[in-house]
Amino acid sequence: MPVHQATAQAHPNIALIKYWGNRDQALRLPSNPSLSMNLDGLTTTTQVEFDPSLKSDVLILDGREVTGAGRERVGRFLDQVRDLCQTFEVLETSKVYARVESRNNFPAGAGLASSASGFAALAVAASAATGLKLSEAELSRLARLGSGSACRSVPGGFVEWPSGADDRSSFAYSIAPADHWDLVDVVALIDVEHKSVGSTEGHAVADTSPLQAARVATAPDRLAQARSAVLGRDFAALADVVERDSLMMHAVMITSIPSLMYWQPATIAVMQAVVQWRANGLAACTTIDAGPNVHVICSAEAADEVALRLRVIPGVRQVITARAGGPARLRPDL
Ligand code: DP6
Repeated sequence: MPVHQATAQAHPNIALIKYWGNRDQALRLPSNPSLSMNLDGLTTTTQVEFDPSLKSDVLILDGREVTGAGRERVGRFLDQVRDLCQTFEVLETSKVYARVESRNNFPAGAGLASSASGFAALAVAASAATGLKLSEAELSRLARLGSGSACRSVPGGFVEWPSGADDRSSFAYSIAPADHWDLVDVVALIDVEHKSVGSTEGHAVADTSPLQAARVATAPDRLAQARSAVLGRDFAALADVVERDSLMMHAVMITSIPSLMYWQPATIAVMQAVVQWRANGLAACTTIDAGPNVHVICSAEAADEVALRLRVIPGVRQVITARAGGPARLRPDL
């Protein structure tokens, strides 16, 4: 049997308009459309090798073998790849297991969306390793099955993920390349421990909040405002809708059953500080994922000043800066 091995790299992404809740939990068909920016400099590098001598899939994350739920999730994802192979008849045996080795150059599990870059890199590497030739849309759709937001880490730059009608049509595409607008995400890391309730469980309880219906109903309007702000490079319009959208998602999270409160005191301190800075003329706004860290989206000119100011806020442990990043891609050189 020939060597079935490939390596790919992907960036995490920060949602400017958030995805929260699914119409179909198993297929990760989202309740609302979302819009994101890939984060350059932060990368997941994943090598996949299908090996007929393996008795099960093996997952090694940042040098450590992962068992239990993490490996099962990757195993279920690889089953989808193996199913595609049967459809396309590219891998000769019915079930060949794989060894997956993945490395992040940033902390996993604290709202920095390592599952997004992880499953985007895995989709690209695993499909190439089996010989599948998938289009960007097909790769994005495949990545979505591993983690919803991962579909947005497949295309480059500024990326839109419409809700889509069904499994086939729910994938993300680029609305502008990374060099379209030199926005910067200055991430204030407040806690890098693994969060207690992950996104998958969070999506599952989104509908228990009576606020979710209102959030979902108004999401297309916010998405349209964010899309035109990105396309027109209008920071003031973007800041307004990005902050509102993040707050609406957290309002749903906080009022879900059980209540998901990801914020810590320093999270709120950063949010309030940035509102003040913006009122005083600094082009910056905040957005927060399912964790305590705050992503401060700002203009390139404001980035150094934002980073300086964030570092002295009590409770901010580290500051990471990322510009808009490119698409997920194969790295045969690694
Ligand atoms: C708050 O894509 O991480 O970051 O599909 O269960 O892996 P799973 O969820 P995930 O959810 C992302 C939620 C979010 C908002 C966003 O990125 O749009």
